[in-house]
Amino acid sequence: MPESPTPPHALLSPPDQAAVAVIGAGAMGAGIAQVAAQAGHPVILVDAQPEAAERAVAGLRATFDKLVAKGKVTREDADATLGRVTPHTTADMMTIPAVALVIEAVVEHLDVKRAIFRQLESAQPSTTVLATNTSSLSIDDIVGEAGSGHDAALHGGTSPAMAHPERVLGLHFFNPPPLMRLVEVITGAASGADALDAASQLVRRWGKTPVRCTSTPGFIVNRVARPFYGEAQRMVAEGLADPATVDLALRGAGFRMGPFELTDLIGQDVNLAVGESVWRQTGEDPRYAPTDWQRELVREGRLGRKTGRGVFEYADGRPVDAEPDAALAEQLVGGPVQADPVARTLAMLVNEGVDLVHRGEASAEDVDTAMTLGTNYPHGPFAWLEQIGADTVRRQLAELDELYPGGRYRPSEAL
Ligand SMILES: NC(=O)c1ccc[n+]([C@@H]2O[C@H](COP(=O)([O-])OP(=O)(O)OC[C@H]3O[C@@H](n4cnc5c(N)ncnc54)[C@H](O)[C@@H]3O)[C@@H](O)[C@H]2O)c1
Repeated sequence: MPESPTPPHALLSPPDQAAVAVIGAGAMGAGIAQVAAQAGHPVILVDAQPEAAERAVAGLRATFDKLVAKGKVTREDADATLGRVTPHTTADMMTIPAVALVIEAVVEHLDVKRAIFRQLESAQPSTTVLATNTSSLSIDDIVGEAGSGHDAALHGGTSPAMAHPERVLGLHFFNPPPLMRLVEVITGAASGADALDAASQLVRRWGKTPVRCTSTPGFIVNRVARPFYGEAQRMVAEGLADPATVDLALRGAGFRMGPFELTDLIGQDVNLAVGESVWRQTGEDPRYAPTDWQRELVREGRLGRKTGRGVFEYADGRPVDAEPDAALAEQLVGGPVQADPVARTLAMLVNEGVDLVHRGEASAEDVDTAMTLGTNYPHGPFAWLEQIGADTVRRQLAELDELYPGGRYRPSEAL
C-alpha cells in the first residue's frame, strides 16, 4: 500500500490540497465532479469507456458556457473550475494518483462496485475515504464477504471482505448533483466515525446538506417515499379515483407534483425498479409491494414522457388527457380514508418515517430534512405527525388494515 502523503482526513485540508477522484463519468459522476471542482478541489474523472471522461468534461464545458452567458459565473471562474477537472485515460484503479476522497458512481452492479473497491483499497493510501454513490446497494455488501449483507443473496459476489471497511461509506447525491442540496451520508456496519464526520463536514463545505442514515434498503428518501406512489396507484387500480384527480388532490396538499405526473417524468420503469429493489431487499414486505397496475404500464412500454405515453399521453411535452375532476377531489379529501388521496398517503408517509427512526436508522430531524430537500415535499413525516396527531394516523391505518389485511398498513410500534 502506498505511504500516505497527507495526514488523516486529508479531505478536510484546504480544497486545493485535497484531491478527489470520481469513478464513473456518467450523469452522476460528471455532476459530482462539477460540484467538487467548483468547491476548489482538483478532480480526477475516471471511466471504463474510452473517451467517456473526456466527453463528460466537454459536457461540463458546455454547461459552464451557458452559466457564463447567463451571468451566473465569470469566464475566469468557469475556466479555473474546468482546469481543475482532469479526465483519466484508463479505468485501472492502480494508475489513479493518491487522493483524499474517491467517489464511485459507476453502474449499479454489486460485482462491479465490489471489484472497484478492492482495487481502490490497495491502490489508495490508508487515509483516503472511499465513498459510493449507490442508490440501492448495501455498503455492507460492497465491503463484506459474499452473503454478509442484505442484498448479497440477490447479486452474489465471490471476492473476500475488504481489509479496511472503516473508510468506506455512502455519499448518495441526488440528480442533478450541482442543483440538489441533499446528500445522504450512509453508514455501513463497519464505517468509521472519523470518516463519516469528515465526509459530512466536507459535503457541508460544498454547500450541501448532509443527513445520516444506516445502509438500510432505499436509505431515507427512496424508502420513505414509496407510499406516495403506491397508495395513489392502489386507489386508481381500485377505481376510487382517476390519476389526474389524485394528482390534483395531492397538489392541493402542497406537493409540487402529484404521484402520476411525477412518475411519468421520472420514468415508470425507473420508479418501478426502485420500488422492486426496496421490496426485495426488505424480504418482500407488503409495505413496499409494487402494484400490478404499474407493472402493466411498464410491460406496455408506457414509461412516461420519454415514450410519449405513460399514465397520461403527451404532445409537445405536455399531458393532453390529464383533466382532473375538481369536484370529486374536493369530495374525496376529508372523506373516508380509503378514498382520500391525501389522508391515505400522509398516514403511510408518517408511518414510514416514524418506523425508520424507530429502527434506529436515522434521526427524526434528518428524515424531515431528507424528504423536504430530496423530494421537495412541503413537509417531512414528523412535521405532518405533529399536525395530524398520532391517534388519527393510528386510526386511519387501522381502518386501512381492516379493509386490506396482510401487513401493508400495520402501524409502527412507535406510533
Ligand atoms: N441517475 C440518478 O438519478 C442517480 C441518483 C443517485 C445515485 N445514482 C447512482 O449513481 C451511480 C451512477 O449512475 P448514473 O446514472 O450516473 O449512471 P450512468 O450510466 O450515467 O454512468 C455510469 C458510468 O460508469 C461507467 N462505468 C461502468 N463500469 C465502470 C468501471 N468498472 N470503471 C469505471 N467506470 C465504469 C460507465 O461507462 C458510465 O459512464 C449508480 O450507482 C446509480 O445507482 C444515480
